[in-house]
Amino acid sequence: MCGIIGYIGSRPATPVLIGGLKRLEYRGYDSAGIALAERTGLSTFRSVGKVSRLVDKLKAELSEKRHEEATTGIAHTRWATHGAPTEANAHPHFDKSRKICIVHNGIIENYRSIRERLQAKGHKFDSDTDTEALSRLIGESYNGDIRKAVIQALRQVEGAYGIAVLCADEPNKMIVARMGSPLVVGMGDDECLVASDAAALVAHTQRVIYLDDGDVAVITPHSVDIRNLDDEPIERNVAELGLDVSAVEKGGYEHYMLKEIFEQPESVRNALRGRIDLAEGNAVLAGLSASPAELAEIGRIILVGCGTSLHAGMVGEFAFEDVAGISTEVQQAAEFRYRNPIVDRHDMVIAISQSGETADTLAAIRKAKEKGTKVFGLVNVVGSAIARETGRGVFIHAGPEISVASTKAFTGQVSVLLLMALKLGRGRRLSQEHGMELAAEINRLPELIEFVLKQNDAIAKVAERMSKSEHAFFLGRGPMHPVALEGALKLKEISYVHAEGYHAAEMKHGPIALLTPGTPVIVLANHSPVLEKVWGNAEECKARGARIIAVVTEGHAHTDLTDDTIILPKCSPLVATIPAAVALQLLSYHVARLRGCSIDQPRNLAKSVTVE
Ligand code: G6P
Repeated sequence: MCGIIGYIGSRPATPVLIGGLKRLEYRGYDSAGIALAERTGLSTFRSVGKVSRLVDKLKAELSEKRHEEATTGIAHTRWATHGAPTEANAHPHFDKSRKICIVHNGIIENYRSIRERLQAKGHKFDSDTDTEALSRLIGESYNGDIRKAVIQALRQVEGAYGIAVLCADEPNKMIVARMGSPLVVGMGDDECLVASDAAALVAHTQRVIYLDDGDVAVITPHSVDIRNLDDEPIERNVAELGLDVSAVEKGGYEHYMLKEIFEQPESVRNALRGRIDLAEGNAVLAGLSASPAELAEIGRIILVGCGTSLHAGMVGEFAFEDVAGISTEVQQAAEFRYRNPIVDRHDMVIAISQSGETADTLAAIRKAKEKGTKVFGLVNVVGSAIARETGRGVFIHAGPEISVASTKAFTGQVSVLLLMALKLGRGRRLSQEHGMELAAEINRLPELIEFVLKQNDAIAKVAERMSKSEHAFFLGRGPMHPVALEGALKLKEISYVHAEGYHAAEMKHGPIALLTPGTPVIVLANHSPVLEKVWGNAEECKARGARIIAVVTEGHAHTDLTDDTIILPKCSPLVATIPAAVALQLLSYHVARLRGCSIDQPRNLAKSVTVE
């Protein structure tokens, strides 16, 4: 949520900062701003809307000479939390003297009291943001040493932050600090960068330092001096980024979302690589290592997450119960953190998150740890807050997911949940023979996904026939119920069509009243023990004039009933959730494309949600 990029070096800072903002734009895109350290002091440029608007403003207002001379700067792209997305609320924000300015990700929770305190001292605020309270507080603490002022101010704030600070009186340095909101420092030749997301650094360097909570770093073109909030020196390792530019570019696709959908055979292959033991019918998951006694001890699994990750957890619930015979619950992370959950050391909590940053999921993990429960992470972003907080678990290795609507993270999460269920199952009740069957099917997932991707053109035609509808329903049973929820979520996120995901049997208990002639009802009718029941539910909708779009297993079409058909490859109901999800991703993508929507950056959304 929001993106930060900072540069200090010998090149003009503006192109580096704008390039970084474009890479970070997927994290928030209400407004953007930039501050440059110039000979005359700090200057800021801010605009509402996308980064391209800021670029226009810079072209109009920043002369070529100033552009060339400014080699230090910080920039921000915002997803509004405190205060509307206006220019006044866009970052950077100044202190009272206008010699210090900051960009900030996160939330300063006690900003009201700071604001009131400063107002009583004569400060007149220019914005409604919590960030301005922090910048003014830093200014109040400034006494010729910006590092000390930042530390002193940060010791007075509660909440989460990733910040970058410039000070006109100390133009050869940039101060950055983190608490609960990620920051990565990149080191190049005669230059350093800082970003809230490694994607913004990849074009410049592979050498990075991941800052930890409580770190405050003074950055110059040649040095990174890290302190804690007691101003004591801290050592942090230099790591290899291990990403190349192609991972964060569109690679010829019209949208990141389409690229990421098509990457799924590969991203799922990466999630599975080295983790399947076909001969033993088992999974090899180092992050889930446990003795048979520990495995036998697990009384219950609780999966926590938000959004698409929550839906992946709901598929996982079926897998853990069916395959491993372990009673499993799924809880929305925000709910888990506040409901005083009844958990103990026999339970196993698995926190699922693509970004590894989601505030509610992080808080749920802390709550579970407080209660003495075993907590594991199922995360995509290595080095993220959730990966660190859980300390153990399994990465899905999907690579950077740039499109706001999650696709390859979902299929990676479900793939790994299936592996986890296989492993736990083999440690308990699952026979080797059944384990071998499931392992072989999971191993085929990349080709099962290819099977669906080959129908891209046909799915685009199905999308054409439903693209004018303002409402749609997605129905499924068993493990396809969460896939229906996820299909509906994808459609509403990117096409703004009102979509509802329902358990197929629930439709007649209310939502069926909403059907009018032609309303698209997408029915997940894969081959399963409840297939006939699903067809029965579809008939009920058809009888009310709905347009039935069925997602069926090869050889099981029902052309009398269905208006359109998307075919799934033959596989078991649990494994079929993944190709089915891919089919629905493509369907939503094409509907959104036909409706002319901003697919990668849908209105009001953000990629990672670091607020409650
Ligand atoms: C946001 C994103 C969703 C994502 C959810 C949870 O709402 O837009 O795509 O599913 O956060 O994010 P996480 O990174 O924890 O999976």
